[in-house]
Amino acid sequence: VLDIRKLYAQGDVFTYDPGFTSTAACDSTITFIDGDLGELLHRGYPIDQLAEKSHFLEVCYLLLYGELPSAVQLEDFEGRVTQHTMLHEQMVYFYRGFRRDAHPMAIMTGVVGAMSAFYHDSTDITDPWQREVATIRLIAKMPTIAAWAYKFSIGQPFVYPRNDLDYASNFLRMCFSVPAEEYEVNPILSRAMDRIFTLHADHEQNASTSTVRLASSSGANPFACIAAGIACLWGPAHGGANQACLEMLREIGSVERIPEYIARAKDKDDPFRLMGFGHRVYKNFDPRAKVMKQSADEVLELLGVENNPTLQVAKELERIALEDPYFKDKKLYPNVDFYSGIILDAMGFPTSMFTPIFALARTVGWISQWKEMIADPQMKIGRPRQLYVGATRRDYVDVENR
Ligand code: ACO
Repeated sequence: VLDIRKLYAQGDVFTYDPGFTSTAACDSTITFIDGDLGELLHRGYPIDQLAEKSHFLEVCYLLLYGELPSAVQLEDFEGRVTQHTMLHEQMVYFYRGFRRDAHPMAIMTGVVGAMSAFYHDSTDITDPWQREVATIRLIAKMPTIAAWAYKFSIGQPFVYPRNDLDYASNFLRMCFSVPAEEYEVNPILSRAMDRIFTLHADHEQNASTSTVRLASSSGANPFACIAAGIACLWGPAHGGANQACLEMLREIGSVERIPEYIARAKDKDDPFRLMGFGHRVYKNFDPRAKVMKQSADEVLELLGVENNPTLQVAKELERIALEDPYFKDKKLYPNVDFYSGIILDAMGFPTSMFTPIFALARTVGWISQWKEMIADPQMKIGRPRQLYVGATRRDYVDVENR
């Protein structure tokens, strides 16, 4: 049997694969995607069943530890997460060092990276206990970190976590509560928020997860690695697409202008793309988008905003694109970001908070992949090769002779 790993290790195989379209960098037991069927499984469980029957912290447990928890295990896990939702009080000063108009993703990258300077007892990756504490801390603190980035940007006081609330309700309250009045969390909105978290929890070796794996392959501490993942997620081709999508829908503005934008998306000389459409792996409907669409309908009905112009543009754009031969031939379907932005907008989040919410939810995926990688006896530092196409050897020329 040809041992491909051995051949790679010996340097007998060299692949040139920009964008890693057909190169696996690891083996993994966490998430499976069948892009042609439009199927996404976490530890074998279909995402639509998890979104329907489970909730985010239970899915976190499943991703991290490989099995659905018993009632006792779940209670213990939720209790541990709840104990760690507060941020070190010194971190308040860290927030205050940013400009008020800083993008919340910029703040999150900085604050999460700075956790390495605050939580020294969970940075040694060789110690399983420290790895576990870092895991729980990151999952527990991410809603506080994201909510505070938002509160800072709008000049309102930080709201501290309330640990009698569930994970999603706590996040909504930390974002929308103001000192003068207590914020009542609507259970339908809390459920929709939890679903958004669940649907974004993991997606195998996407760009930000691969960034986390590559960063941690050098032995860097978990907070630094997750900060690297947040930075990668920010880009508009990845997690930044939900913000870019809503901004695009607003720019289109009315149903009459849709054909103009469809024509631009098809024009090879125009760099414009329909945001929220297409995916590297899914060549069918993104299964997360199906659930998100249903959730969007529930939230919009509750909030009475079905007639909002952005939503009307979104619905009509989806209808036209799905019937258009260009999108059909290239198998470009709406992805999860197409609908998540509509829900978050209706809930009252500014577009700048869309990607931070994605980062909050994806943290568990990043950590699960990080834990898996560290426990892998085959783990070695990630070091891609290159195909050199620059100048051949030449002699240095003194400056006066150039
Ligand atoms: N609008 C118009 N045309 C598109 C779009 C789009 N949204 N997406 C892809 N295409 C076209 C490309 O122009 C290309 O055409 P060609 O074959 O004639 O050159 C073809 O479809 C294939 O596109 P690639 O860029 O090669 O596909 P890739 O797998 O590299 O890119 C990506 C996937 C980045 C998601 C792309 O579809 C895109 O830019 N979409 C818009 C941004 C977006 O929604 N990103 C969110 C991704 S999901 C997530 O991160 C959670």
